[in-house]
Amino acid sequence: MGRPTRVMYNTSMAHTLRNALRPGYARVMVEKVQRRFARSENTRAESVEWVRHQELKNWEWCHEFAPALAEEAREVGAEVRARAKQLRESTGLRIGGGARIELLYFLVRCAQPEVIVETGVAAGFSSTVLLEALKRNGKGRLYSSDFPYFRAKNPEEYVGILVPEELRENWTLLVKGDTVNLPEILSMVDKIDFYHYDSDKSYNGRTYGLDIVQSKLSDDAVVMVDDISDNVFFRDYVAKNNLVFDLFGAPDQAIGVLNLAALNSRRPS
Ligand SMILES: C[S@@+](CC[C@H](N)C(=O)[O-])C[C@H]1O[C@@H](n2cnc3c(N)ncnc32)[C@H](O)[C@@H]1O
Repeated sequence: MGRPTRVMYNTSMAHTLRNALRPGYARVMVEKVQRRFARSENTRAESVEWVRHQELKNWEWCHEFAPALAEEAREVGAEVRARAKQLRESTGLRIGGGARIELLYFLVRCAQPEVIVETGVAAGFSSTVLLEALKRNGKGRLYSSDFPYFRAKNPEEYVGILVPEELRENWTLLVKGDTVNLPEILSMVDKIDFYHYDSDKSYNGRTYGLDIVQSKLSDDAVVMVDDISDNVFFRDYVAKNNLVFDLFGAPDQAIGVLNLAALNSRRPS
């Protein structure tokens, strides 16, 4: 599994300043900077060491759990990557990553959720596979939260650029940052059946993003947290809340999943 997604733009200080003047942007930009420099950030080595001592699942686990869906996930992943390549060639944008999309697609096909919330959209690799999985499930809606890359000119134009028009019907996309978007999304939904956290990777950002949705998570909700090796947030969170968890990937690039066992009762035949 590779590095996380990022759309590469022409950036400048002028764009940063102009974006800061947009309503609501400055507050989120300041929050992001404060979190980045918080003392809890310097814990990557500690986190990798912790992951190293856990059991790590990989793609083989998916194949054993539901072989047909794992194969389907592989095909969908390849289609989305081909689409990204085409877009890259036609626009010149450097759209990279899409690292976890097969696993994400697979889990959603197994979990059959009605309500998915995700944070972190960027070009929209994850949004595309989440929406494709909902389409094939024949039910469900995706609510996504992002905050555009503020060093770019007109950054909103690039959020979700990969998502095909025909999948957008079941999608609500908000782009004012998690601290604004998540409360708004929570007011729109009765429950969350699947939560994918992939936005502000700081310890405090993750604490906010996981805590705020807790009361709306359904009993069998599956939660996926990307890049947990970045800092010790996930280690502390599962310990503090006494949660059963599973890890996928490699020690330096692990993905945390909560409540994977909920899939057992829905294992496809
Ligand atoms: C790793 S990328 C997401 C990749 C995406 N899940 C995919 O698979 O294509 C992280 C995204 O989160 C956004 N982000 C960062 N901080 C945020 C915040 N506080 N609120 C909302 N989005 C944020 C970034 O601008 C970026 O678009």
